Amino acid sequence: MTEGTGSAGAVAAEFPSWARMTAARREHALRVAGLMEGWARGLDLPADARARWKLAALHHDALKDAPARELRELLSGDEARLAEPLLHGPAAAARMEEEAIGDPEVCDAVRYHTVGHPSFRLLGQALYLADWLEPGRGFEDDLRRRLRSRLPGDWDGVLREVTRRRIGDLLEKTLPLRPETVAFWNARVVEGLS
Ligand SMILES: [Fe+2]
Ligand SMILES: [Fe+2]
Repeated sequence: MTEGTGSAGAVAAEFPSWARMTAARREHALRVAGLMEGWARGLDLPADARARWKLAALHHDALKDAPARELRELLSGDEARLAEPLLHGPAAAARMEEEAIGDPEVCDAVRYHTVGHPSFRLLGQALYLADWLEPGRGFEDDLRRRLRSRLPGDWDGVLREVTRRRIGDLLEKTLPLRPETVAFWNARVVEGLS
């Protein structure tokens, strides 16, 4: 586990002015931020690192309730052609970059929070975990409570389990896996093959 210091960037403590979020979405993002804050404190991260974690948490779904058409307008190339559920992360990251909010690690955590990415360090991993483990989601509550109770101590073990379950859900629904997701999973298990 490593924690990048990142470069300087504006650290807003609130949702961005351009957020398109329902009240329920804001509650979800606040629970994600709260979970991440607890882990960051448990890991003894300094205040500036914790502020970056909060920034990622509050921005990750900032555009989730915007129409797909508007999200695609913020994107170009392959990203603009992503499936609808995958657009909001890259679109929010694009807005953050436009407005110099955060730093590259924060923006990439937001960009890839739905699919995972092998370049994730602690921040990106934390957002990926918290997005699935936050207590208000209302599915597999016992399992998710048990996994939360193992954090932040058993970081790699829980990350592997959450990644397995998130990918399993995609397979169950006969949905495609993004290459980033496969690489993220391989980064979790490749050591076991060597
Ligand atoms: Fe999301
Ligand atoms: Fe989310």
